[in-house]
Amino acid sequence: MSTRDNGGMRVVFVTAELAPVATVGGLAAAAAGLVKELRALGVDVDVVMPDYGKIELADEHAVEIDVPAWVGTASIRSGVHDDVGPLHLVRAAGLARPHPYLQPSGEGWPDNAERFFRFARTVAAWIDADPPDVVHLNDWHTGPVLAALSAPPTVLSIHNLAYQGTTDARWLTKIGPRGRHYEWWGATNPLSGAIALADRIVAVSPNYAAEIMTPEGGFGLDEPLRHRWGAVTGILNGIDTDVWNPAVDPLIAAPFDRRDLTRRDDNRIELINRLDLGSTDTSPPLAAVVTRLTDQKGIDLIEPIVPLLADIPMRLAMLGSGDADLAGRLHELAAQHPEHFAFVEGYDESLSHLLFAGSDLYLMPSRFEPCGLTQMQAMRYGSIPVVTAVGGLVDTVPDADADPRGGLGFVAARARGEDVLAALFRAARRIRDPRRRGALQRRGMAVDWSWRVPALSYRALYRDLVG
Ligand code: ADP
Ligand code: GLC
Repeated sequence: MSTRDNGGMRVVFVTAELAPVATVGGLAAAAAGLVKELRALGVDVDVVMPDYGKIELADEHAVEIDVPAWVGTASIRSGVHDDVGPLHLVRAAGLARPHPYLQPSGEGWPDNAERFFRFARTVAAWIDADPPDVVHLNDWHTGPVLAALSAPPTVLSIHNLAYQGTTDARWLTKIGPRGRHYEWWGATNPLSGAIALADRIVAVSPNYAAEIMTPEGGFGLDEPLRHRWGAVTGILNGIDTDVWNPAVDPLIAAPFDRRDLTRRDDNRIELINRLDLGSTDTSPPLAAVVTRLTDQKGIDLIEPIVPLLADIPMRLAMLGSGDADLAGRLHELAAQHPEHFAFVEGYDESLSHLLFAGSDLYLMPSRFEPCGLTQMQAMRYGSIPVVTAVGGLVDTVPDADADPRGGLGFVAARARGEDVLAALFRAARRIRDPRRRGALQRRGMAVDWSWRVPALSYRALYRDLVG
């Protein structure tokens, strides 16, 4: 039932990831952060995601959902999750797996498209039975919901156009009455159909909204996106500033705020000792990277820089998980340059906090970056970002040498080794002067990176749709 009558608004928010229930990348953090803030603003948000298994809910109840025969049996388990509050979990064949998308080998599950088609079909049937004011979809996993749903109004957030879940054409007739909108060059594309059918399309940063309508940034979908240009907007992500708060963070060695940056030194010492990076004195500067290891992040551009770190001079500490070949090469580099480069393989939340709190610079040479959360996390903790001029990095990191207000970091014009190296040199030179360095750090820490403003923008968008 709609809650519009009492002045409120009910939104069904559909996602494949939600921190800390199921986290792979920034989608999980973005979904959780936005939902939390929308609820704080009084929006009634029903979050629905796949039941990957082993997710505990209090006050649980389940309902069977009436779905077409190909879906098999489907139900929705609802209750209250300790960290995220009210939550709805879709149970259907193939959804419960140890990793949302990947087999233990690191390759995708061969039936990923089919799994998320079942998920989307079940969600559509569930929504049809009790339509909210607005349906908010995220990325390709949720795109096919619109194949089987015609009301209510919908918002599609694009977190990463590089992933589209394209599969063979036989699904077009199965995913729902509007399945033909998902036909894409003889295949089924879960995202192209949602781009055609959603009432509003939100890219996760204003600059990404512009990029995805170009052949260079559209991953093949720039034309359908240009076709919908009037419906496309960009809303910059935020970060959860309760979780990311250096003044009270239990995961770092010494809490600090922007009035007392010297307390960051204890975090730096702890980090250097933990990673065995040699001397703990304040020079040379320490740069950090926290990342998924994928082509997107441009980590291969850092490889040729590692042997040059001694000359900059600079030390680099990297935490990353993903591509096994890249991880292997990074381990080798760390073994060859132990005084200047440390690499920790894995996904480690507590080490990530310490890396932001104890580093001087944060390096992010992405080839493309829809928004990027880590550069904001870094700035919140006084680590100065060195980034490429792509996606949300452009919206969040004005260059210290180009911005009349002093900037927040250092920007490489292109994702190329020499440009990244030049930006690193500029950064290293600048932070040698403690006064100018402190000014940059304090400016980054003073920015409001929270979800407050983005959530207000989403609420305004919902209201606009509801009329
Ligand atoms: P993406 O979603 O493309 O991976 P983002 O910067 O948007 O990039 O978000 C990544 C999120 O995951 C951030 O919250 C970051 O702190 C976290 N993260 C990424 N890699 C790791 C890692 N290896 N260990 C711990 N946290 C990580
Ligand atoms: C994707 C993008 C990243 C963005 C995140 C959350 O994973 O790669 O840039 O910050 O989604 O929207």
